[in-house]
Amino acid sequence: MNTFSRIGFILAAAGSAVGLGNIWKFPYVTGENGGGAFVLIYLLAIALIGLTIFIAESYIGKEARTNAAHAYQLVSKSKKRAWRWAGFQIFTGIVILSFYAFIIGWILNYILLSFSGFPSDIKEAESVFTNLITMEIGTQILFHTIVTLTIIFIILKGVKEGIEKLNLILMPLLGLILIGLLLYSLTLDSFSQAIEFMFMPDWSKINENAILAAVGQAFFTLSLGMGIIITYSASMGKETNFVKSSIMVALVDTSVAIVAGIIIFSFLFSAGAESTAGPGLVFISLPLIFSTWGIFGQIVGCAFFVALLFAGITSAVSLLEPPLMYLMEKFNMTRVKATIIAGTFFYILGIVALLSMSKSFGELLTFFDKSLFDWLDYLTSSIAMPISGFITCIFLGYFVDQEELKAKFTTHVNIRLYKVWLVLIRFVVPVAIVLLFLNKLGVI
Ligand code: PFF
Repeated sequence: MNTFSRIGFILAAAGSAVGLGNIWKFPYVTGENGGGAFVLIYLLAIALIGLTIFIAESYIGKEARTNAAHAYQLVSKSKKRAWRWAGFQIFTGIVILSFYAFIIGWILNYILLSFSGFPSDIKEAESVFTNLITMEIGTQILFHTIVTLTIIFIILKGVKEGIEKLNLILMPLLGLILIGLLLYSLTLDSFSQAIEFMFMPDWSKINENAILAAVGQAFFTLSLGMGIIITYSASMGKETNFVKSSIMVALVDTSVAIVAGIIIFSFLFSAGAESTAGPGLVFISLPLIFSTWGIFGQIVGCAFFVALLFAGITSAVSLLEPPLMYLMEKFNMTRVKATIIAGTFFYILGIVALLSMSKSFGELLTFFDKSLFDWLDYLTSSIAMPISGFITCIFLGYFVDQEELKAKFTTHVNIRLYKVWLVLIRFVVPVAIVLLFLNKLGVI
């Protein structure tokens, strides 16, 4: 099997983690939940819950060196076949990819728009976005197809030539664009207001929904509960310090989210815009501001959406790798065949999901008041991901050889850190996940 170089693993895992979740979702959920206090809870959720599970998935992958479905069985103490069921998470990724891909398609639309000029009044900005989603089925399918083909092209080249190379090029470029945008936002008067909004906690805005959103976002942004980190870690060099690498990835991911937040709120506040626009923050509010800056706004806007595109593509390729590795190992398939099967599945599901938001097919594809798109999002982010996270905690906490676990950890970190991690994985994180899960289902 191809192995990542040390930096290759960190870049690939960071490429998976840093995505639309950081640049699109984090700023808008922060805006909806009042800023500073939410950011603090989010940072805690990353440090205590996200990082704990990230390290756990890394350990499982590195030890098993196989696909995410077989990994649990191999690493378990009992070696029972039933542990393979924990591998259901590889299907979560492919379902997410179906809608992740067409959202990247929206970004392509906005990159093109940056050439012709962004909408200049709020009604127009809203209708550009709403029309794209609800009426322009052909455009969306076209972009979805382009994105799918791009992902397949990269994936076919393999882990080292495809994924590692892609991240080696796109991640530094993404970093450069973000630094450029950050420097520009520093020149705006609204910069200090953005800093205040992001870092001065106003606890009155916090309720259980905000806490749920913070934990959910911590999961999503670190690409957890989908077998991705397990799959990537299976290609990690044998000597790599998996704890240190995990911390690096979490740091990169968190820094990008925070920087994206600062940039976006500086831009928004410079025009006196609201922070509570929800998902339309990036697709409606921002283009409106870019349009007031004339040609310069077109350049800044284009750079912004290209950054979003790069972040999205590096995450999208990671979503396909776990099912591919599974198909290849379990059924002895070639990479090409596995890619065609998995690719066709997410491509078609994506089209059905995007149709479920359209005017013409929306009603047909709405079940129990949720469109198919909302169902896919709900079932993956709110149900499947927390369940996988919970299984991973219980698995490492209670069903693997604890002596071996300790020995493997302590070759890389000191024993005190290991003990903290063990308490988190055995007690704190699973209890937190169960409480949040029950809350989300409305049981408590
Ligand atoms: N972590 C990515 C983001 O924040 O956008 C999205 C993602 C990629 C989620 C891969 C889950 C995943 F398995």
